[in-house]
This record gives sequence, structure tokens and C-alpha cells, in this order.
Amino acid sequence: MPTFDRVSEVYDATRSLRPDVMEAVLDGLEQALGGTNTLLDVGVGTGRFADPLRRLGFEVVGVDLSRRMMAKAREKQIPDLILADAESLPLRSKSFEVAMIVHLLHLVDDWGRVVGELVRVASRYVVSVIEKVEGPRFRDLYIESGEELGQPAKKLRRGEEGLESLCKPSRSRVLVRYADETEADTEIDEYESRIYSATWDIPSTAHAKIVRRLRDEYGGKRIRRKHEFSLVMWTPRELQNLHPST
Ligand SMILES: C[S@@+](CC[C@H](N)C(=O)[O-])C[C@H]1O[C@@H](n2cnc3c(N)ncnc32)[C@H](O)[C@@H]1O
Repeated sequence: MPTFDRVSEVYDATRSLRPDVMEAVLDGLEQALGGTNTLLDVGVGTGRFADPLRRLGFEVVGVDLSRRMMAKAREKQIPDLILADAESLPLRSKSFEVAMIVHLLHLVDDWGRVVGELVRVASRYVVSVIEKVEGPRFRDLYIESGEELGQPAKKLRRGEEGLESLCKPSRSRVLVRYADETEADTEIDEYESRIYSATWDIPSTAHAKIVRRLRDEYGGKRIRRKHEFSLVMWTPRELQNLHPST
């Protein structure tokens, strides 16, 4: 199974948020989660959020399946890291006040089981930071093109955003909005070199065709987008309705 081990060296350089955007996101998290003692970051990765949250005083424990991603988190002095599958957390029920997921649900085999585990271990909230984008998203274009070529997407394609539309959270707040412009070729190059997970299961012939399609349509263009980051907070009870068995 492909894992994030393959991108641990480039993850922070390719997925970091703009500093002003990160600051606004962290301010929002700090305000909303103030008073929380224990926070579990499921799919902690390199500690993109766990590290600054720990510096803000939260007691953060991270869980991940990728040893190399967690090695990066360890370099950032995040002490409590557990190698485990989000579908079966080796943790006691209600052992954390808050369970956080960012960019996890689109990756897992059984997102329902993961949500069930979050509901089980969190006593107060399951939270996520969700980015919505207006404008072309190469991830969506890549997946749609793959589907047209007979490579169906198997997972919860929109991840946490998909969960938000399936189960409306009682607390949700826009943290920051901004617009930007990027070179399409730079992003298509990144897809071509398979640094994004959407590309990992796609056989090389289909991958080459998809990349060619992206270049035919967007090569040489500048892409304008509007971004909106929201903090979304579900109570375990809200999510439990999705999982009557938990
Ligand atoms: C896109 S990264 C996001 C990391 C971090 N949350 C962030 O926002 O930067 C997804 C992480 O989830 C981890 N992951 C994927 N499937 C998992 C699973 N079933 N259980 C635990 N971690 C998983 C990957 O190894 C990777 O580190």
C-alpha cells in the first residue's frame, strides 16, 4: 500500500500554508479550543498543526501510519507519537477531549470506521480545518480525468469537506479568506512527479494520459483561486448519528 513515507522529505515544502493564513488558522484554533487539555491529532503527519499547537500550550498526541512522516514530527520535538491505524486506535474510550483530523479522510480505506474511532476516543469535539476553493483544483481535475479513463476513485473523495456535507456540525466558523494566482505548469509538474496522493494508485499509462490532458487544457496558464479556511467542530453525538453502532 502506498504511504506518505514517499513524500516525507517534500511534504512541508509543498503543503505549507502561507504564514499569514497559518497564523489566522492557529488563532481560530486557539480561541475555539482554549481550555482543552488533551488533543489527539489523527494523521498527524509531519506535525504541520501539532507542532504549533503544542507551542501554544496544547498537550498534543499524534497518531499516524507513516514512520517517516512521524520522524519529521519527532524532529520538531513532538514527544507523543503513536504508530497506528486511524481505523483502529489503540486508545481508551473518551481518553482525549478533542480529536483533530486534517486531510485524512480522503486517504483511508474505511472512513466510517475512522469516524467511529474519533467518536469513541473524543469526549468533547471532533475538529477539522477545512479549505474550500473556488477555481480549478488539479486534484479534482486529476481524479475526474482518471475516472473518465476507467480509474474510479474509491475513497471519500472530498475528505473532511465530504463529512461536513454528510453531517452538519453545530459549530463552524470561517477563519480566513484570500485569493491567489499560481502557474498551472508548476502544479502540473508536481502531479506529474506524483507527490500528491491522488496519483499514487494510478497506473503509469493512465497517469501519463491524465497529465497530458492537464497540460493540454492548462499548460502555460495562470490559475486564479479564492480560498476559504473554516474551523469545523462536531460533538461526538452529532457524528454518532452516522454510526449507530458506535
Ligand atoms: C495529507 S497528510 C496530513 C497530515 C497532517 N494532518 C497535516 O494536515 O499536515 C495525511 C497523513 O495521514 C496519514 N494516514 C493516512 N492513512 C492513515 C490511517 N489509516 N491511519 C493513520 N494515519 C493515516 C498519512 O500517513 C499522512 O501522514
